[in-house]
Amino acid sequence: MANKSRESETYLVAKEHLPRHVGIIMDGNGRWAKKRGLPRTAGHARGAKVFKEIALYCADRGVKAVTFYAFSTENWKRPPDEVSTLMSLLRDCLEDGLEHYRRKNVRAHIIGDAEQLPASLREMIDEVEKSYTQNTGMILNVALNYGGRAEIVRAVQNIAAEAAAGRLSPESVTEETVEQNLYTAGQPPLDLVIRPSGEERLSNFMLWQSAYSEFWFSDVLWPDFTKDDLERAFRDFENRNRRFGGI
Ligand code: IPE
Ligand code: IPE
Ligand code: MG
Repeated sequence: MANKSRESETYLVAKEHLPRHVGIIMDGNGRWAKKRGLPRTAGHARGAKVFKEIALYCADRGVKAVTFYAFSTENWKRPPDEVSTLMSLLRDCLEDGLEHYRRKNVRAHIIGDAEQLPASLREMIDEVEKSYTQNTGMILNVALNYGGRAEIVRAVQNIAAEAAAGRLSPESVTEETVEQNLYTAGQPPLDLVIRPSGEERLSNFMLWQSAYSEFWFSDVLWPDFTKDDLERAFRDFENRNRRFGGI
């Protein structure tokens, strides 16, 4: 199967056949480090490098939107020193990205609840978000303290507040209303979700946006993930038969 093997074909999928929106669940940093007798944080540092590389490659490749799952609402359960290392890595990673986003016309957008994040990270988020309004190229969402359920709850709260204020009638709420109240309002739905590390689950990632996405799983650990792996996922995606409930 194309998603199990790392060999063979090398052609590049034509731009018009690429997924419009790719979701990437960056998983396996801890196991990568453990295999080498290193602390888990060494895996995160390596994973951050791979994130930068793959994000910029997606922009070069002509992907319209990509979302990287970096920290979930459940990841607070981890030991405090791992969480704080992750927060500072994420801050540095965003800072490092600023110049690249400018040069590659990337619109970076941080999705999730920023309120609980450290102040230094929040300040960097404000800086990075400027690219979202100023630039016109690929959308790069970074999911940070993000949960799919929390995102839907937030949308419901916004809609309920509009209804309570008399600006919206409950009967007029449609799928579009919900969509417009997600962090990804106006973006294409997820065409493809990639999860390395051998786990085959969503872990609360983009529940609404993944309703009809294709999935691509691989045993490779995120710090070992390469552009070739991404291209393999694209080739596999191109050959999927998407029916959306039709025939
Ligand atoms: C992904 O790698 C990074 C985050 C979830 C923040 P993990 O840290 O989950 O690595 P494993 O799954 O323990 O190997
Ligand atoms: C999912 O990975 C979250 C991110 C990649 C940010 P986890 O490692 O937290 O997921 P579970 O716990 O294995 O489901
Ligand atoms: Mg994990």
